[in-house]
Amino acid sequence: MKFLQLSVLPFLIVILSLNGATLAHPYGDFLHCLSLRISNSSTISKVIYTQNNPSYSSVLNASIHNTRFATPTTPKPYAIITPRKTSHVQSTIYCSKNHGFQLRIRSGGHDVEGVSYVSQVPFVILDLVNFRDVKVDTKNEVAWVQSGATTGELYYGIASKTQTLGFPAGICHTIGIGGHLSGGGFGILGRKYGLAADHVIDAKLVDANGRVLNRKSMGEDLFWAIRGGGGNTFGVVLAWKVKLVPVPPLVTVFTVNKNLEQNATKIFHRWQYIAHKLPNELFTAVWVMKVNSSQVGKKTVQAGFRGMFLGGVDELIPLIQHEFPELGLARENCTQMSWVQSILYFGGLPIQPVDILLNRNALPVSSLKAKTDFVREPMSETGIEGFMNMFLEEEADFAITMIEAFGGRMDEIRENELPYPHRAGILFESTYIVQWTNEADAGTYINWIRRLYSYMASYASKSPREAYYNYKDLDLGTNNIIGYTSYEQASVWGLKYFKNNFKRLVQIKTKVDPMNFFRNEQSIPPL
Ligand code: FDA
Repeated sequence: MKFLQLSVLPFLIVILSLNGATLAHPYGDFLHCLSLRISNSSTISKVIYTQNNPSYSSVLNASIHNTRFATPTTPKPYAIITPRKTSHVQSTIYCSKNHGFQLRIRSGGHDVEGVSYVSQVPFVILDLVNFRDVKVDTKNEVAWVQSGATTGELYYGIASKTQTLGFPAGICHTIGIGGHLSGGGFGILGRKYGLAADHVIDAKLVDANGRVLNRKSMGEDLFWAIRGGGGNTFGVVLAWKVKLVPVPPLVTVFTVNKNLEQNATKIFHRWQYIAHKLPNELFTAVWVMKVNSSQVGKKTVQAGFRGMFLGGVDELIPLIQHEFPELGLARENCTQMSWVQSILYFGGLPIQPVDILLNRNALPVSSLKAKTDFVREPMSETGIEGFMNMFLEEEADFAITMIEAFGGRMDEIRENELPYPHRAGILFESTYIVQWTNEADAGTYINWIRRLYSYMASYASKSPREAYYNYKDLDLGTNNIIGYTSYEQASVWGLKYFKNNFKRLVQIKTKVDPMNFFRNEQSIPPL
């Protein structure tokens, strides 16, 4: 009962060092506050992990999906709170606010900049790992899903009840519902149905004053803001009610790999003119990466054309032969499977048993940096050639760009329907990712991805150069770590993520959290 030992020292002042300056911090007061509010000692030991607790590191690391932020020098939380009840969330907000701790909310821990579990000021983590109920109601085609569940847990929950309903969210099954839905959520059903956030019909949120709100009591402005306006800005979203969508019992997936010597550049060039106009039932993507060439000891660059069709192979093949004959799609490139298996296929996993969807650690974790672009005009062939050639560089050994076709339903939803604005006219979204194994070399790899991003400037959307908030990129600009951030300063990155919706997000933030309790490097600042 290490916590209880600490809690008898309510006025303990912990001395800590921040940016070289020595500050006094009422750490003991915070713990005392929590211990008074969560008075049951057996609950406390399952909910509060201080740095003295032997499980502290394993609880912290369990949901870190970017080891770039798991080094000995990465700032660590004073405590990790893993609430089991709504009142634990309310108490954590109350005590953090009253004792000067910043709160970082973590659901699945996939934030690519580590924002859900790292801060430069004294902080605690509210980790929603125990908030992961999934309740699927096939009759009404809805589900209530708690934020700490993963997309995989939701997909599994749906598929274990029906083969004809699905949910349009991300490809990776380990991402958390909390972060994913609060930033948008695009996946293989995106061209047919739009974003995960487009399908949220109610939510349960705890605000900065500890009030528990639903759609009706929070009002339409706040309900609009939490569906894409970013997490850790407006409150703690505990659960989401989502509308499920119809899927056929069998879908068809395919992969056709082409490398530089097999006309990859030309085929990719052609794909840009076609992919966004294909029927909404057909989602395609191009994954670009370095691979071994057929010449021993040589490398080449591969464009992997991947697709998921909401229908059978007999319908797909003539469709592609008609619309995109250059791809040379053959029956042996295609496999029919259930929608839920297609998630595993895209995630590079065996398609059965499907209960791997319940494994939150099924995918390897590495150190990485990501950036995104939205492209509105097709790139020239020379432009694509230069882009592909960058993957021949040494730093690109573990790099990938995932290029996903838009159009379809995404073209039909207004830019201001939700905070996520990247809709009509987008041909595709590119997610650039570079990974490395030796932390000492991080700078070299990060420089490479920054060069790739500079190279893409002429081809990407402009004024603003749009970026996807769900792959945060702190290179775009940040809030001041301490104190006030002006609207102008935050606009630098805010307009890239939210375009004209940024202003409304700032107004809502000003109304619901004027003291800026929920904040991070790229949270919406109040006026
Ligand atoms: P995490 O817990 O790290 O939270 C992310 C942000 O949301 C943080 O700011 C956090 O504080 C906040 N937050 C989390 N829970 C909250 C809550 N309950 N209430 C309020 N704020 C909360 N995206 C996509 O659209 N399609 C895809 O296919 C993929 N695939 C993918 C694969 C991999 C390997 C990674 C690393 C990322 C993706 N993403 C993605 C991006 C993903 O959608 C994004 O990182 C989400 O924010 C992840 O949500 P988590 O809950 O896992 O993150």
